Amino acid sequence: MRRTSPTGQVKDLLQTVPLFSQCSKRELNLLAGIVEVEDFAPAAELCTEGEPGLGLYVVMEGEVEVKVKGRTRRKLGVGAFFGEIALLDGGPRSATVVATTDVRAMLIPAWSFNATLKADPSLATTMLKEVCRRVRTSDSSLSS
Ligand code: CMP
Repeated sequence: MRRTSPTGQVKDLLQTVPLFSQCSKRELNLLAGIVEVEDFAPAAELCTEGEPGLGLYVVMEGEVEVKVKGRTRRKLGVGAFFGEIALLDGGPRSATVVATTDVRAMLIPAWSFNATLKADPSLATTMLKEVCRRVRTSDSSLSS
């Protein structure tokens, strides 16, 4: 895993992520200054089921697979987020998330995401809608 400093690329990408579509320029600037961009090789684990969570991830490049008890539940691509469950309830990761290609992802650390949520509650609504969509489709589809 390789880490780089946030760049203009991060700000541009944040604007295209549906989760952040309602954020103001100010909030996006704030987020862009906080996120860490991380690179992962194929087969690297970004989250491990049962482990504590560090924050929320957004896929910038590549594709990941969500696995629960070793069974693939979903594939997530560019613009998708994951890691919200441990972040919201403070519990362990509910699934393992593995890179299936070279992956670039941004990590929004828990403390800063929680601060952003307080500043912009519309983020919570957007996130909940996506979580509900995943629950509704979790048995019928592996693609997002
Ligand atoms: P979290 O539990 O923090 O870490 C693992 C993440 O995988 C989880 O948050 C969700 O973002 C994601 N995840 C868990 N189960 C599913 C599922 N059935 N479909 C899609 N994403 C999931």
